[in-house]
Amino acid sequence: MKIVIGSDHGGFELKEEIKNFLDEKGYDYVDIGTDSGESVDYTDFGLKAAEMVKSGEADRGILICGTGIGIGISANKVPGIRCAMVSDVYSAQMTREHNDANMISMGGRTLGGGLACMIVEKFLTTEFSHGERHQNRINKITAIEEKYNK
Ligand code: RB5
Repeated sequence: MKIVIGSDHGGFELKEEIKNFLDEKGYDYVDIGTDSGESVDYTDFGLKAAEMVKSGEADRGILICGTGIGIGISANKVPGIRCAMVSDVYSAQMTREHNDANMISMGGRTLGGGLACMIVEKFLTTEFSHGERHQNRINKITAIEEKYNK
């Protein structure tokens, strides 16, 4: 599984902690930045990571900004992206099982590294449940995208 990870300045420190965790676990990932605490726009990193997931260059994406909100909203503007803003392990599991989320976003200013890494591990190790009702709802999400992308 190829993972893309990205953040703005508000998520930079947590991104580095998560990268250490990914290294320890042996995950294959690409870091698209940012590379420091200098102010940047979360939109640029949300878009770039989402486009990599959309194109198949990456299978899953992990995004971090100050709150996890702006970068996740940005990623979700790319058709086919289902980015869940997650701040607990249960939601990380459920968004894989029920929503087949291909990206998560988290807050570097709201989450500690220990919890964030538990969230990441659950996100990366949980499979979609493939239940008919869940697939049907995901199809309906896709239909909304198609309605407004005409
Ligand atoms: C940057 O200051 C901050 O607005 C950003 O990291 C994020 O929290 C936005 O949603």
